[in-house]
Amino acid sequence: MRYGHFDDQRREYVITQPNTPLPWINYLGCEAYFGIISNTAGGYSFYRDARLRRLTRYRYNNAPFDVGGRYLYLRDNDRGEFWSPSWQPTRTKLDKYECRHGMGYTTISSSYSKIEAQTTYFVPLGETLEIWKFQVTNRRKKTAKLSLFSSIEFCLWDAQDDATNFQRNFSTGQVEIVDEVIYHKTEYRERRNHFAYFACSEKLAGFDTQRDTFLGAYRSWDNPAAVERGKSFNSVAHGWAPHGSHHVKINLKPGETKEIIFVLGYHENPVDRKFDPPNSQTINKQTVKPVIAKYLDGKNVTAAFERLQHYWDDLLGIYQVQSPDIHANRMVNIWNAYQCMATFNMSRSASFYESGIGRGLGFRDSNQDLLGFVHMVPARARERILDLSATQLKTGGAFHQYQPLTKRGNNDIGSGFNDDPHWLILGVAAYLKETGDWSILDEPVQFENEPGSEQPLYEHLRRSFNYTLERTGPHGLPLIGRADWNDCLNLNCFSDTPGQSFQTTTNKDGTVAESVFIAGLFVMAGKELAAIAKKRKLNQEAERCLAEAAKMEKVIYQHGWDGAWFVRAYDDFGKPIGSKVCEEGKIFIESQGMCIMAGIGLKDGKAKQALASVNKHLATKHGIVLQQPAFTKYHISLGEISSYPPGYKENAGIFCHNNPWIIISETMVGNGDRAFDYYTRINPSAREKIGDMHRCEPYVFAQMIAGKDAPTHGEAKNSWLTGTAAWTYFTVTQWILGIRTDYDGLRVDPVIPAKWKSFTVTRRFRGNTYVIEVRNPKGKQRGVKKLLVNGKEIAGNVLPVRPPQSKPIQVEAVLEG
Ligand code: BGC
Ligand code: NOJ
Repeated sequence: MRYGHFDDQRREYVITQPNTPLPWINYLGCEAYFGIISNTAGGYSFYRDARLRRLTRYRYNNAPFDVGGRYLYLRDNDRGEFWSPSWQPTRTKLDKYECRHGMGYTTISSSYSKIEAQTTYFVPLGETLEIWKFQVTNRRKKTAKLSLFSSIEFCLWDAQDDATNFQRNFSTGQVEIVDEVIYHKTEYRERRNHFAYFACSEKLAGFDTQRDTFLGAYRSWDNPAAVERGKSFNSVAHGWAPHGSHHVKINLKPGETKEIIFVLGYHENPVDRKFDPPNSQTINKQTVKPVIAKYLDGKNVTAAFERLQHYWDDLLGIYQVQSPDIHANRMVNIWNAYQCMATFNMSRSASFYESGIGRGLGFRDSNQDLLGFVHMVPARARERILDLSATQLKTGGAFHQYQPLTKRGNNDIGSGFNDDPHWLILGVAAYLKETGDWSILDEPVQFENEPGSEQPLYEHLRRSFNYTLERTGPHGLPLIGRADWNDCLNLNCFSDTPGQSFQTTTNKDGTVAESVFIAGLFVMAGKELAAIAKKRKLNQEAERCLAEAAKMEKVIYQHGWDGAWFVRAYDDFGKPIGSKVCEEGKIFIESQGMCIMAGIGLKDGKAKQALASVNKHLATKHGIVLQQPAFTKYHISLGEISSYPPGYKENAGIFCHNNPWIIISETMVGNGDRAFDYYTRINPSAREKIGDMHRCEPYVFAQMIAGKDAPTHGEAKNSWLTGTAAWTYFTVTQWILGIRTDYDGLRVDPVIPAKWKSFTVTRRFRGNTYVIEVRNPKGKQRGVKKLLVNGKEIAGNVLPVRPPQSKPIQVEAVLEG
């Protein structure tokens, strides 16, 4: 069953019925001001940090699942009936409904009783505000007398406090209402210099700013008292729950259309000009008035919307493919790249599954997110790398998370996730390969955000690498610490106390449990660091990295190979995990992918053998599960992984994030058919046809699809904010289509299905546009034997960097291997 369809031309997903299995959402904003919006206008907005600067309130895990948002109500004043043009919250049966999620905007259209409505929500580039452009048309034969009510609930800034500290918060709320603008200024009188505003382009018939007056006692969003009676109460919030609602009266002749604009925004005032008049407690509005006026003007709204579209034209134009597979095309050309922007901005902080108060930006996550983002806005990738590395500990370890507003490491979570530092090496390597900007390595960067501790970024990378060398266990493998990539493999935790965090509790000294996964990661990062050192002419340093990587490789062969696949780890008793000797969890995906990506086992057949084992034990038609057999009981020595029912999340779920590691590994052994098959199994577009089973959005990857041990095998959860976005994008663009960035150029090394006859990639890279046509006349899966650049054959398969040219560079590659 489908709930809509792709409109690739317009780069939109069109949802044609409002009651999707789960809310299907989109993101507004891609710089500093963000919003989440569902297909029925649910969601909320924030400035930079979903926890500390929440503008509007949202209650998670509600019933229905998604209540609260950017709501509008239309009321027919003659008939006295009212409805929501976005279906929620009244859920009136609409005659027509359509939601178009596009690049940075969402348009919801509907028709009810011959009144058509359409609202487009977006955030203009460079602004800290969102626009709701509302249009209403009367298709009746008679004049329609309508009322329009807007509705948002203000959040008292810190979303965590807002949801818990009622004894205080019920007494702090404050607003001002001037002209057609509602200003939310809770705590402005004291330590905040910021406020929110909600403006309307029309003269108001009334307003409400106190939620409970607007709704009325014992009523909810589906039946607000003000809307029902057709008249606002002009309530002024003092404490309780500040709210924003405008009431506009609209008389529409037959066929007439009216446009009304709402602007919801965030504004900061200079400390010395907070109040106007200066000694009052009234917000100085002079600084914000021009912005409000600008966007209440339809012409400016149209221009801002066009700018946003050009912005995305440009970003998406960096990598475009035309291949025989429509699902790969639309994910690469549109949605996967777009999802990479969201994961770059949000990390794992704010989605419909991440509450915005739980986590800041993850060190490991953000570094991996760069893989799918760095080509789009390299300058922001650079800034992110420098921010992340400034939270690095002097030991080379890392704060596991940081808050984007303060850019400081999060002390509550702390450090000790022993894979973390290596992702920095890989993130920086991706940046260097994309940009060739070697100057970043010389940037002075603090440790632990301590002034005076600055060292060149390159030194941070060295410490990342050394961190593991200084922390090996009894087998010579890296100690795992609190967890490695798999946050739920908690080998030093041994928790028997309800409510303890598996990630931050350590009841063991951590000197025994080891990770084969980190060993593989270390080898991969070591090889990258060696390549970087070599480019900096630090030959000895390069040799050292390679020697240490080779040493670790030997240890992996000795203690990390189980006979038919790579072992996953050793527990606190020194016993293997992910081995045939285990009763449950005999084989894990992570170490297979990571060791092979690091190049281990490619020469002696072990890689192929491990991949055959993955295929036999872990692959399902919905993707590759994390391990088998699933844990059926709680293993105190393993931690959170065994706390999930079999088939979910880290306990044998299809954890999509690491499927690409196997896909890359398959390309490394030249198996294009299987690589692409695995890719298609988790590709949301290819799963659109099983929407009732998949349930999440068909246009973005989900973190997890329930594994074969789960009763709901095939059901996706936790869409949007997942490392799957960057890894699938990186995998399909660089390893399957094989247009791969390298330190000195663009490598052309596709590994594709044998039945593909040809495909074309357009890639902008270091100032040039390459149009690369790959032909496969003999039905091969790999092996570029001929590479023509502007008609001339070149040796090897790397397109060297060239000075920018005015015309696109035509490349022809022929597979013959
Ligand atoms: C989840 C992991 C996640 C971790 C973050 C766990 O409950 O299963 O996927 O990485 O929480 O703290
Ligand atoms: C989600 C977390 O954000 C990520 O850091 C972790 O690697 C995976 N879960 C696997 O546990």
